[in-house]
Amino acid sequence: MATKAKEISARIIDLEQKEDDSSFEGLRPKAFKNFIGQQNIKDNLLIHISAAKGRKEHLEHLLFYGPPGLGKTTLANIIANEMGVNFKITSGPAIERPGDLAAILTNLKANDVLFIDEIHRLNRVVEEVLYPAMEDFGLDIIIGKGPSARSIRLDLPRFTLIGATTRIGQISSPLRDRFGIVSRLEFYTPAEIKQIVTRTAKVLEIQIEDSGAEEISKRSRGTPRIANRLLRRVRDFTQVKGDGTINLNIANRALKTLEIDESGLDKTDRKILESIIKKFAGGPVGVETLAASIHEESESLEDVYEPYLMQLGLIERTPRGRMATEKAYKHLGLIKKGNKKERQEPLPLV
Ligand SMILES: Nc1ncnc2c1ncn2[C@@H]1O[C@H](COP(=O)(O)OP(=O)(O)OP(=O)(O)O)[C@@H](O)[C@H]1O
Ligand SMILES: [Mg+2]
Repeated sequence: MATKAKEISARIIDLEQKEDDSSFEGLRPKAFKNFIGQQNIKDNLLIHISAAKGRKEHLEHLLFYGPPGLGKTTLANIIANEMGVNFKITSGPAIERPGDLAAILTNLKANDVLFIDEIHRLNRVVEEVLYPAMEDFGLDIIIGKGPSARSIRLDLPRFTLIGATTRIGQISSPLRDRFGIVSRLEFYTPAEIKQIVTRTAKVLEIQIEDSGAEEISKRSRGTPRIANRLLRRVRDFTQVKGDGTINLNIANRALKTLEIDESGLDKTDRKILESIIKKFAGGPVGVETLAASIHEESESLEDVYEPYLMQLGLIERTPRGRMATEKAYKHLGLIKKGNKKERQEPLPLV
């Protein structure tokens, strides 16, 4: 049972797994009016889109970054819809050679949106081809080999590149500089997540009380993908153990079974905090060492777990590594050694 619960909760928080998004494609908002939150980004985009449409031009290149599941792909999709152009989607690792990118670029139509997910994983050679394409809408092709080789430039249609990444720090500065707009997606507020949960429930025809939606949203780590996932797990639980309607009580019971606590932390989050505190005396500890200590990949620690733990103020990133904060000790019901209060107490006689 314990293993089963672990598997389930791992699947919910494991933001790397995107496949269940596609089986619920209907949930992905197709227009700005259904895209909840990220008001600042939306307001700016609406202005840029309306200006570009007015000029009958392509939109500037855009780069979205932020933790997984916050809506980068969804936003890119909406932009193409609002611009009334084609949406071509690919990813950094999928473009292996310059020829792959050339094939994609030469198939674009004027003003189309090309979306490159995980753009930080583009290799250098491909990136070099992308620079003139983004800047001058040109493609440099080498014809022939050896001394007779020559380069010719092909004109490309004016297009919009939208890049998405969870790792802004891994994007080279020449690439980053070629984006006109760089936007960071933020975690959503519980109130925004509640609206998303309510909308999803409506689309999936799930009966849910306000209190149930509120409880799910509080524990969704400010992330729409997790909120939608939790809602579906809670629905299953309600169908089997309840009367089919999600209320506060049944949502609480379901979330307990999934081992997600009141702050939305799962077992792995708690393991991270516990490891920093118990194995590394509260830190600082390097990310690789910390990841190894809990048998996780350092990448998922950095991309998936850390941003939310930092947002809650449970850990701090310092130049020497990660540290658990006072709040983390409290969250786990532990007392920090070396606290003023503790130091005042007499030392035990050994
Ligand atoms: N603002 C929003 N309003 C409603 N639903 C949203 C919103 N943002 C995201 N979603 C839902 O969350 C799911 C995940 O969003 P999306 O795939 O766009 O995230 P992402 O940032 O691209 O994640 P990743 O970094 O893993 O690619 C979508 O299927 C969509 O249904
Ligand atoms: Mg995405």
